Amino acid sequence: MTFRLWSRNALLLTPAMLLASAPQTLRESAQAAGLLVGAAVRPTLFSEAAYSATLAREYNLVEPEDAMKWWTVHPEAGRFDFREGDEVVRFARAHDMKVRGHCLVWDHNNPEWLAHGHFTPAQLSQLLHQHIATVMKHYAGQVFAWDVVNEGLDENGHVRDSPWYNQPGIGLADKGSAYIEQAFRWARQADPRALLFYNEAEGEGLNRKSDAIYAMVKDFRSRGVPIDGVGLQMHISQLDLDTAAIASNIARLTALGVQVHITEFDVSLPLEATGRPAKEDLARQAEIYRGIVRACLQSPGCTAIQTWGFTDKYSWIGSHSHGALGAALPFDRAYKPKPAYAAMMATMLGKGDRSR
Ligand code: XIL
Repeated sequence: MTFRLWSRNALLLTPAMLLASAPQTLRESAQAAGLLVGAAVRPTLFSEAAYSATLAREYNLVEPEDAMKWWTVHPEAGRFDFREGDEVVRFARAHDMKVRGHCLVWDHNNPEWLAHGHFTPAQLSQLLHQHIATVMKHYAGQVFAWDVVNEGLDENGHVRDSPWYNQPGIGLADKGSAYIEQAFRWARQADPRALLFYNEAEGEGLNRKSDAIYAMVKDFRSRGVPIDGVGLQMHISQLDLDTAAIASNIARLTALGVQVHITEFDVSLPLEATGRPAKEDLARQAEIYRGIVRACLQSPGCTAIQTWGFTDKYSWIGSHSHGALGAALPFDRAYKPKPAYAAMMATMLGKGDRSR
């Protein structure tokens, strides 16, 4: 009798329990798929209730959109300001999220005093070493992965002109990726536990730039230069994207023993006179979100998918395209999930057609 009662209760309870434990959010779906799902964030927006609630509910990873860049954390020579970055870390801790750091070496988003300081290579080398050491030590144990170098290559796969490379550079001008290597070595010394990433734009599929990234990472790995991952930015505006080429690129990179993170994903759409995208475009956008999540899932070494923001209310695409494009993210301006959101979630849960 006792047994029958128990077993009937179990039968009655099981479906309810299953329902209760089925993933309801992006974050739970990503966890079920063994992935981190993240978004770039602006700490000034944490005070907006819908912003914070959506972020905490849906994501297990955050990256400061601007709050850990040179122009924010190192606004004057010799003065560091970690207030905004610390807010991101606090938010993440309160909501059990990881933090990606972005970025230590880039030719953009640097403060005026640095960009127009007319420093010598020896001075720049010292400044960069000090910057990497100070910022990484400040966030040691809080930031689990850093974009050490951002956008170091041009579309032909050559090392791009930059104050750190050859204008005038840190003393390694015309030595190809040597300055990038130096930055990774300083980064490893500063925080040996952080994962070190090379982050790049427009090297997602198979092209000259992604070939050059691949060759550089292969060279670094073979010589013991400390690199743990490649960040593929994934700012997409082409609606007939070949996601198969992206899957191949992810596969070849992870075969080198590094992780891949998709770091700045968004799919910008043309806006109609109303300021809204066409309905068909929202469906095409969702297909691209599906394709990218699938491309990542195909390689076990692809461990994080992050979008550049999460609500269309706050996205860099508007200013970047002078208002022509927008609606690039998984949530609309009212924080309502878009078809792209459903596509990400279903793909993470292995639902729907995975063959395309
Ligand atoms: C952008 C931010 O979204 C803007 O807020 C800022 O004004 C400029 O930078 N690639 C990158 C990001 O690696 O750091 C850039 O972020 C977008 C392109």
